[in-house]
Amino acid sequence: MSFSIGNVSPGMGPRDALDRYGSANRENTGKFNPHVIRRLLAYLRPHTWKMMIALVLTLGESGLTLLTPYLTKVAIDQYITPRDASGLWGIAAIITVSFIALFFVSAGQRYLLSWVGQKVLAKIRSDLFRKLQRLQLGYHDNHIVGVTVSRVMNDVAEINELLSQGVITLVGDLIVLVGIIIIMLTMSPRLALITFTVLPLILLATWVFSRYARASFRETRSKIAAVVGDLAEDISGMRAIQAFAQEKASQERFERVNRENRKAYINAMSLSFIFLPTIEFLGMVATAIVLWFGGRFVLAEAVTLGVMVAFLSYVTRFFQPILEVSRLFTTFQSAMAGGEQVVKLLDTPVEIADLPEAREMPPISGKVEFDHVVFRYKPDAPLVIDDVSFTIQAGSTVALVGPTGAGKTSIANLLTRFYDIQSGAIRIDDSDIRTMTQASLRRQVCVVSQEPFLFPRTLEENIRYHSPNATHAAVEEAARQANAHDFISAYPAGYQTRVQEGGVNLSVGQRQLISIARAILAKPRILILDEATANIDTVTEAAIQQALERLLHGRTAIVIAHRLSTVRNANWIYVLDHGEIVEQGTHAELLDHGALYAQLYARQFTNSDNDRAE
Ligand SMILES: Nc1ncnc2c1ncn2[C@@H]1O[C@H](COP(=O)(O)OP(=O)(O)OP(=O)(O)O)[C@@H](O)[C@H]1O
Ligand SMILES: [Mg+2]
Repeated sequence: MSFSIGNVSPGMGPRDALDRYGSANRENTGKFNPHVIRRLLAYLRPHTWKMMIALVLTLGESGLTLLTPYLTKVAIDQYITPRDASGLWGIAAIITVSFIALFFVSAGQRYLLSWVGQKVLAKIRSDLFRKLQRLQLGYHDNHIVGVTVSRVMNDVAEINELLSQGVITLVGDLIVLVGIIIIMLTMSPRLALITFTVLPLILLATWVFSRYARASFRETRSKIAAVVGDLAEDISGMRAIQAFAQEKASQERFERVNRENRKAYINAMSLSFIFLPTIEFLGMVATAIVLWFGGRFVLAEAVTLGVMVAFLSYVTRFFQPILEVSRLFTTFQSAMAGGEQVVKLLDTPVEIADLPEAREMPPISGKVEFDHVVFRYKPDAPLVIDDVSFTIQAGSTVALVGPTGAGKTSIANLLTRFYDIQSGAIRIDDSDIRTMTQASLRRQVCVVSQEPFLFPRTLEENIRYHSPNATHAAVEEAARQANAHDFISAYPAGYQTRVQEGGVNLSVGQRQLISIARAILAKPRILILDEATANIDTVTEAAIQQALERLLHGRTAIVIAHRLSTVRNANWIYVLDHGEIVEQGTHAELLDHGALYAQLYARQFTNSDNDRAE
């Protein structure tokens, strides 16, 4: 494999996907979308009982909130004004009890709602993760890791508040609101109507606010995704950034997205900073109205003092639910924007799914057949495999050679069904691979990939990755055959040495040895070695070749290699160029033929001392 500098971030997806993410987000309006709501509400269904209890508690909370100012009025009008101290005790006791009840009721309600909220949150995240695992590689090729992470973490959190608190709090707030209006109207219609003159102002302020808030909250959401996306991409490309001394440029780029994110947040926040004081100010105005008009009514004996005091208390309580409802409104909008993204991901069709009638692949003998296979990675991309047909008999070793970009790795990707072909068929033991489950296919077809991937776990766990039940002795035996045992034992912790992220504490060749050991341990019926020994010195390679020959005995193998000395012993060699098979035959036949293979070979022969020595 080549020195992978310059390949800034394999697997991170294209940077322009970030921009596409941003524009997709702009289209996404945060408006009411019944499908999204229905999908999200389904997550509450398992918690119906808890939600019911929370609802009852909320009703209790609303009732108690409405009750206390009324009790104050009774205390003033029936006991304080008539100077009846003995009755005052009773009403004071009732007020105290209702405050204590209010405390417990709201604590219980909050606890229940948070509990349900966290449950739902975890469930959505685990569903998203399951979905991401099922989605074909083609999906992941086109999506930025950071954006996907932001979706699973931030967008889901956005929904959580609405789902858990939203609906129930809304019910409670509306009850309090309507309750206060009714109570005020019955206590004193005149004073009530005068007080309500501030209502249109509040509605106006809320309307103006929510219009601007919707736009700016949406903006913040796409900006934070851009920050996470950029960060993840640059961290994984740190090696290339430092190697090319691009720290300054990438710092500037990061600062730009960071700044945009900050601006968007401050915009959104300052809206709330203006809105909340406005509402509070209107609350003061309402209080002043009650004091002014209520006071005059009391003096004129049109209303009792108790009514006025109750009004003062109700007016302050009146603004609480209005604030809550308008806050919920913005929560609703960002939750809809987040929810749309989450539901979109949950609803993304899995293009490479097992057919309903897919069966387990039985133990195979290992015949592989490509039948007029045509393939491109994307509908608008050029053909990568152009009408390729070949048959590999069970138990034989076949080599695929050809220039860079010819489509060799793509053939491995197709045989393991990481991508589906556009036309033709791929058969194993005469059954189309699309009729079998993917898991059973991949248990018997194993790829030692061109870019070996190791997990940040111990070396032993990495070797055991395909065969979780293998004993330590088996792991060690596989490592010996792969010539990995010596370098593993040289570590103080031996097989328990932890691989660092991306395998950076191993050389590329050592990583290849580990993946070969992994394949040896897995003993698949069909083994694909994609440049598996490209980074290993020729002496070690020769030793591994022997071990592989033992392993491959009776198994089907596809060996992909640029170093043509490693494919000389293959039973049959296919030469691939621009997605087509241009030549085939044994090593000797192809040399005689004097075409592409002979040219590639001749060039290596003159360039490589090793080959000359052989
Ligand atoms: N995930 C992908 N998405 C889109 N195009 C791809 C993808 N992987 C490969 N390609 C394209 O398919 C073509 C064949 O690539 P492939 O990896 O099969 O080449 P290869 O023969 O293995 O080359 P090499 O010898 O360098 O490993 C190339 O033109 C490449 O740009
Ligand atoms: Mg390749």
